[in-house]
Amino acid sequence: MSSTDHLIMSSPKRKSQAPAENHSDTAKKPRITEDGADDDLATEMPIVAANGAPDSHINPELAIAYWCSTEATVNGVLGGFPQVSRIDLQGSSNFLAKLRRQSKQFPTSKKLRRAVDCGAGIGRITSGFLSKVADTVDIVEPVKSFTDQIKGKEHVGDVYNVGLESWHPDKEGLGNYDLIWNQWCVGQLTDGQFVAYLKRLPRVLSEGGWIIVKENLSNHQLGEDVYDEVDSSVTRTDTKFRKLFEDAGLRLVSTELQKGFPKGLYPVRAYALQPR
Ligand SMILES: C[S@@+](CC[C@H](N)C(=O)[O-])C[C@H]1O[C@@H](n2cnc3c(N)ncnc32)[C@H](O)[C@@H]1O
Repeated sequence: MSSTDHLIMSSPKRKSQAPAENHSDTAKKPRITEDGADDDLATEMPIVAANGAPDSHINPELAIAYWCSTEATVNGVLGGFPQVSRIDLQGSSNFLAKLRRQSKQFPTSKKLRRAVDCGAGIGRITSGFLSKVADTVDIVEPVKSFTDQIKGKEHVGDVYNVGLESWHPDKEGLGNYDLIWNQWCVGQLTDGQFVAYLKRLPRVLSEGGWIIVKENLSNHQLGEDVYDEVDSSVTRTDTKFRKLFEDAGLRLVSTELQKGFPKGLYPVRAYALQPR
């Protein structure tokens, strides 16, 4: 591997790599791992910020502009990798089922009362998974053309068209969530915003409920987070995630790597968290 190979690695939310010279010629696709150079998938290049922490480069206006110009389909929100959706949803369902088998409050025999799909996109996770396990699923997603796809569907409750950094469920006064699902979206928040957001959640989490974070992991060779200029997001390392959970006062109760994704994509890990 050359010293610059880490610059052209991408991941499974929707990204891949591009030759360095095509740096500005970007299109979203799932991301390629350090050992999975897959030239067929190459269209863009996430970068490691040369100056400053990777998350200091996040620009919410660029991020929203990118997502607003993305087609409101599974293909769009998964960056041209719709085929990973089924296995992702199955992995999520298995992960939650294992948590519930150990739970006094939320055994698998009963439906959850209320869940929320955070950074929900078009509601791929809500329609394919959360609405099957919960009576009501609220949606938090800044892009309205995405939430228009899911609004009003069976089991869908309130829809909040805001970014997670601006979502204050504790102030909405609508009661508690048994499950707060965050997937492929927290990279849009700076580390500080992410921790502040996580700190708000215990106030709206039912006793025994779970905060789930399921995200791509940076496998940068120097163990750094990676800034992605295409959607102005960061891909964090496992170490960074664990530190931020700790900073937010959350306890990691279970974690699992997603299995069965196509070779060449960044690893994806699910974390189940509860207040300490
Ligand atoms: C890769 S898509 C994932 C969508 C969905 N979680 C899924 O897995 O199908 C990323 C989503 O994050 C949303 N997003 C962008 N900025 C955000 C923010 N500040 N807070 C929450 N979500 C954001 C985008 O609009 C987009 O819908």
